[in-house]
Amino acid sequence: MKFAPRIVGTLMVANFSLVFCQIPPPLAVTCPYPVDLVFLLDSSESFRTSGFEDAKSFIQTVVNYFTLGENDTRVGVVTYSNADEQVTRVKLNENYTRVELLTEIRNLPYDRGHTFTGLGLDHVRNDSFLEVNGRRNDTFDFLIVLTDDESEDEVIRPAQLVRQMGITVFVVAVGQESDISQATLETIAGTPDRVFRLEDYDFLVDDEHPRSIRENICNASRPCDPQCHADATCRLLVGTYTCMCNVGFVGNGFTCTARQCSALTAPTNGVLSPLGPYSYLNQVTVTCNSGYDLDGISPVTCQDDGTWSNSVGTCRHLTNKYNALPIAE
Ligand SMILES: *[C@@H]1O[C@H](CO)[C@@H](O)[C@H](O)[C@H]1NC(C)=O
Ligand SMILES: *[C@@H]1O[C@H](CO)[C@@H](O)[C@H](O)[C@H]1NC(C)=O
Ligand SMILES: *[C@@H]1O[C@H](CO)[C@@H](O)[C@H](O)[C@H]1NC(C)=O
Ligand SMILES: *[C@@H]1O[C@H](CO)[C@@H](O)[C@H](O)[C@H]1NC(C)=O
Ligand SMILES: *[C@@H]1O[C@H](CO)[C@@H](O)[C@H](O)[C@H]1NC(C)=O
Repeated sequence: MKFAPRIVGTLMVANFSLVFCQIPPPLAVTCPYPVDLVFLLDSSESFRTSGFEDAKSFIQTVVNYFTLGENDTRVGVVTYSNADEQVTRVKLNENYTRVELLTEIRNLPYDRGHTFTGLGLDHVRNDSFLEVNGRRNDTFDFLIVLTDDESEDEVIRPAQLVRQMGITVFVVAVGQESDISQATLETIAGTPDRVFRLEDYDFLVDDEHPRSIRENICNASRPCDPQCHADATCRLLVGTYTCMCNVGFVGNGFTCTARQCSALTAPTNGVLSPLGPYSYLNQVTVTCNSGYDLDGISPVTCQDDGTWSNSVGTCRHLTNKYNALPIAE
């Protein structure tokens, strides 16, 4: 009896740590680029309870690698199984904080049932990636599909529509070719580069596979890699970041050269300084010979569109300028 209070105390501590054991500890290094990240998790019968638990741990491990927050990475989760069973479990604009999000993921219920991946993809497009549900228009969007079975409905069109929204799709599949074909996975992701096949559920929770997958996702979220040229800016264009040369520069973004302006011809009785060739922001001074005066503006400037700010003008004889009539001899 004497020990009772102590036992209760120990149990409470045990319970407390149990809750936190289910949440991975924060990492020293996280992926710094803010993205909108949605998981589409197959919740069908084939996973079995233990496989589904591993899938949740896997998602936690990936999520934990991102810098989470309202203005950092936002995470959404959808589960799917039967034809009438696509459920938004976490919206992009809910559970911004790490502990809330990881707790929600740990608590995802297991549905069982069939595998309608096409309908799952439709749900993501119709629901998760709507601005009203937290999608931002100035961040990269990622969908990570986690499944272990061939879809019972058509995935080609739904996957295409998702990708057409500018969403980058990754697929993580558990099983052999006979469980889920490589062709299906590549159809969903749109490229073999973003397909990850794990031959066993254990690979969802080992040290190696989740780490490699989350690093791949993080690398894909790096705004511009390799880095843009000094005269270029990294911009988001239809779902992909691109290096674009700044105004007044031309090139592919990794090399940029100042735009050229056309050659100039010095006016009669005048000179240009400097002589060409000319590029963006160059200024050219027009100087008339002694006894002549410039009728025009100097300097002229090479503009960002490759045109000159003004024409070169003309040099007029001073006599003509002050005496409208020629002097009679
Ligand atoms: C996120 O940014 C918005 C707008 O700048 C700001 O109102 C909000 O407080 C920020 N949230 C956090 C958690 O910093
Ligand atoms: C996640 O967000 C929802 C909606 O705001 C909220 O009801 C729920 O309590 C949050 N989960 C946690 C673990 O805080
Ligand atoms: C998605 O929206 C389309 C119309 O845009 C509708 O035909 C389809 O039934 C919707 N699918 C789901 C799963 O909500
Ligand atoms: C992006 O979203 C913000 C905030 O929701 C909105 O004010 C802005 O107009 C949007 N920009 C574009 C290009 O849609
Ligand atoms: C991610 O990018 C870094 C830096 O370029 C590279 O060292 C690393 O191997 C990449 N990781 C993966 C999994 O591709």
